[in-house]
Amino acid sequence: MEKLRILRLLSFLLASLIFKPGTLAAGLPRSVLQSTVLSNPQDIKSSYDFVVIGGGTSGLTVADRLAKDGKYTVLVIEHGPLVYADDLLTVYGALAPLTDPLKYLYHISSVPQVGLNNKTGRIWIGNLVGGSSAVNGMVTTRGTKTDYDRWGSFWSKTSFWNWTNLLPYFKRAMIFTPPPEPVRSGFDITYDIDAVWGYNNGTGVHASWPSYQFPGIKIQWDAYKEIPGVEFPRDSGGGTNGVYWHPTVMDPKNVTRSFARTAHFDGLNRSNYHLLPNFKVTKILFEGDTATGVRFRPGNGSSNFYQVRAEKEVILAAGAIHSPQVLQLSGIGPRPLLELAGIPVKVELPGVGQNFQDHPSLNMSFKYQNYTIHPNADDMNSNQTFIAFAAELWNTNKTGPYSIAAGNAGSFLGLPVISPHNYEAIADKLDAQDVSAYLPPGSHPDVIASYKAQMTSYAAALRTKNMTVYHMIFHATAAQGGIVYYHPLSRGTVNINVTDPETSEPLVDYRVLSNPIDIEILIEFMKFTRKYYLESKTLAPLAPVETGPGSNVTSDADLEAFIRDNFTPTTFHPVGTCAMMPRELGGVVDENLLVHGLKKLRIIDASIFSTTIGVNTCQTVYAISERAADLILHDAEYSSS
Ligand SMILES: Cc1cc2nc3c(=O)[nH]c(=O)nc-3n(C[C@H](O)[C@H](O)[C@H](O)COP(=O)(O)OP(=O)(O)OC[C@H]3O[C@@H](n4cnc5c(N)ncnc54)[C@H](O)[C@@H]3O)c2cc1C
Ligand SMILES: *[C@@H]1O[C@H](CO)[C@@H](O)[C@H](O)[C@H]1NC(C)=O
Ligand SMILES: *[C@@H]1O[C@H](CO)[C@@H](O)[C@H](O)[C@H]1NC(C)=O
Ligand SMILES: *[C@@H]1O[C@H](CO)[C@@H](O)[C@H](O)[C@H]1NC(C)=O
Ligand SMILES: *[C@@H]1O[C@H](CO)[C@@H](O)[C@H](O)[C@H]1NC(C)=O
Ligand SMILES: *[C@@H]1O[C@H](CO)[C@@H](O)[C@H](O)[C@H]1NC(C)=O
Ligand SMILES: *[C@@H]1O[C@H](CO)[C@@H](O)[C@H](O)[C@H]1NC(C)=O
Ligand SMILES: *[C@@H]1O[C@H](CO)[C@@H](O)[C@H](O)[C@H]1NC(C)=O
Ligand SMILES: *[C@@H]1O[C@H](CO)[C@@H](O)[C@H](O)[C@H]1NC(C)=O
Ligand SMILES: *[C@@H]1O[C@H](CO)[C@@H](O)[C@H](O)[C@H]1NC(C)=O
Ligand SMILES: *[C@@H]1O[C@H](CO)[C@@H](O)[C@H](O)[C@H]1NC(C)=O
Ligand SMILES: *[C@@H]1O[C@H](CO)[C@@H](O)[C@H](O)[C@H]1NC(C)=O
Ligand SMILES: *[C@@H]1O[C@H](CO)[C@@H](O)[C@H](O)[C@H]1NC(C)=O
Repeated sequence: MEKLRILRLLSFLLASLIFKPGTLAAGLPRSVLQSTVLSNPQDIKSSYDFVVIGGGTSGLTVADRLAKDGKYTVLVIEHGPLVYADDLLTVYGALAPLTDPLKYLYHISSVPQVGLNNKTGRIWIGNLVGGSSAVNGMVTTRGTKTDYDRWGSFWSKTSFWNWTNLLPYFKRAMIFTPPPEPVRSGFDITYDIDAVWGYNNGTGVHASWPSYQFPGIKIQWDAYKEIPGVEFPRDSGGGTNGVYWHPTVMDPKNVTRSFARTAHFDGLNRSNYHLLPNFKVTKILFEGDTATGVRFRPGNGSSNFYQVRAEKEVILAAGAIHSPQVLQLSGIGPRPLLELAGIPVKVELPGVGQNFQDHPSLNMSFKYQNYTIHPNADDMNSNQTFIAFAAELWNTNKTGPYSIAAGNAGSFLGLPVISPHNYEAIADKLDAQDVSAYLPPGSHPDVIASYKAQMTSYAAALRTKNMTVYHMIFHATAAQGGIVYYHPLSRGTVNINVTDPETSEPLVDYRVLSNPIDIEILIEFMKFTRKYYLESKTLAPLAPVETGPGSNVTSDADLEAFIRDNFTPTTFHPVGTCAMMPRELGGVVDENLLVHGLKKLRIIDASIFSTTIGVNTCQTVYAISERAADLILHDAEYSSS
């Protein structure tokens, strides 16, 4: 059952691509200069200025920036291996690493989901150097202004966490290359380098474009012109939503994945930047309230323990699933949970591991009966003429369908556009809701206050176009209907397993659909998606037809039943479990990303999002890490002078 769901989800995100990577990625050079890689814990120094927990997306980015001037020593401890393999670099379909038996991922399943008739779902996160950026779909976009202004709004009107202030860090994080001709003019792809990307002449992750697009994208785009209220922003990163083009995180020179390892580790040759792969941090060490180092053990579970000292700071970058685990193991978290696990309470922070959010998705399906633009996606891999055509383009010039990652266009829409008749009633209902009923029983009052503040903000935003809730990926070749839900109301939990806190993976509960208004919004999504495909004058010549759930499923009760049977709790974007919020709102870190109540312990990964954003998460994680480096360096200078 789960396997089937995963395949459906993958096929939706991969646009049904199944291929033979060996034939595509041959000939890529393998020798790469690195900073210092340690394979034996005996080789590490007894102390570093900074110890970074997790060599993933955020961890490598911050380590690179902190080590840059040669002034500070940095050690990154990463649970997973350092892997140089062609399937990580292949752009085609972008999720190639996952088509193999999940070899680069953690093996974690969620607890049974009550909202999904007790089905479980896999947790998709990378377990290797580069973290999730090494295996992700390579889609890169930026949320709307309201997404980032909301983070600051929980603090004050003048918080420095706002869109305007984060923009320079987005620019520092990414190196933009415009789309090549003729794809730019052929598809009328627009962009705004001055306002959105800047001219990054330093280092960063590449945002560039495939030199090919499927002709069918145009008609999907044009069909949106029929829908009232849809805007077409000039660039994916301008802070407004609508229907737009977005780049791929790929190195345009050789059409390979650009990620935290290639941008912030490979080629650096720095003696002050050490990486220890294959080791897992189990505890943060303190003297009084000051973090002074970490305890770690081999990632394979062997029970030798080691420790290392951090002179300036310990930086937690283990991602939204494991950062709360490391905190809880260190005695920082909800008191009742720590007591059950027999862990002495260092600082009671009820929000650690709560407020868990992801972007769930709904798999409707549509087909064009009269599809003359291009072979249908489902047939693409069995069509030998097509495969030969694609292989020729790739082998000669690294172009064609095999140069496309997970796609470069889609719709990102607010509730008033999706549901012009019901959005106000839905927002009113959320405003009036007693939200405490939808959190786990016994939730701490601070966690309830946090949820209330978030839902008040969402209710206001649901009345504007500016908070993206609905995302349709434009498929390479044909209709599909997979829809991502970008600001779900339900909140989950990530807690240590109290019977085996240290070696067992944490218990992840998406609590998907626990807030009943989510179902109401998803019913609106289904009605809108039908309208888009089936009432469109633009699409009519293609004779679209709904294949799932089918035209006989119309009542709200039947739509709800379909949702509960066909909902996937994740599109791989876990966030929120160590939220940057005031302590009285269940927050875990303050505006400087320092853990409340402690000194010299910072969290910089996707767990600090207080509320999720209306796009894929990676570009924002890079921007946060870039800002974190500035905050950390500022404090390091200050404390040493
Ligand atoms: C399959 C998949 C597809 C995705 N697709 C996209 C996409 O197309 N576009 C997009 O923008 N985003 C995408 N994302 C999301 C995006 O990649 C993540 O939001 C982002 O990479 C998270 O960064 P992070 O630093 O928070 O965590 P990670 O990058 O996951 O890094 C955490 C690291 O910490 C390590 N670690 C954990 N615990 C410990 C410990 N105790 N000790 C030592 N090390 C530890 C982990 O092994 C990991 O390497 C995708 C993610 C996945 C998994
Ligand atoms: C791709 O090109 C970049 C230079 O732009 C280089 O650093 C990198 O090693 C190359 N990667 C591969 C796999 O060839
Ligand atoms: C799901 O599990 C719960 C708790 O075990 C149980 O009460 C409920 O009946 C189950 N629901 C379904 C649809 O099986
Ligand atoms: C963003 O924050 C800065 C303070 O750091 C402030 O000067 C600026 O006015 C804020 N911008 C907006 C639009 O709120
Ligand atoms: C970065 O490069 C661009 C284009 O090559 C150039 O115009 C700009 O002046 C450079 N910026 C800096 C700060 O060097
Ligand atoms: C790497 O740096 C060391 C000095 O730290 C230097 O001796 C060596 O030549 C450098 N290697 C390369 C390939 O630049
Ligand atoms: C586990 O990892 C450690 C450190 O890398 C190594 O010494 C040990 O042999 C490994 N044990 C097993 C069973 O692989
Ligand atoms: C196979 O692909 C070719 C080239 O793209 C196309 O012309 C043809 O119609 C396709 N055949 C089928 C059965 O889809
Ligand atoms: C590859 O690119 C060259 C130069 O742009 C062009 O002449 C050639 O036709 C291309 N080959 C294919 C198969 O498109
Ligand atoms: C929403 O965005 C539009 C621009 O698209 C802007 O005019 C409007 O002020 C925004 N509204 C809110 C409430 O932010
Ligand atoms: C919690 O840990 C125990 C002991 O390792 C294990 O038997 C149990 O399956 C774990 N619980 C879950 C839900 O994974
Ligand atoms: C199918 O597409 C062709 C070419 O666009 C068009 O001439 C024909 O009318 C379409 N058939 C239907 C049933 O829409
Ligand atoms: C709709 O039709 C399909 C196929 O005939 C059937 O399996 C399904 O139960 C029907 N659903 C409803 C709600 O009538």
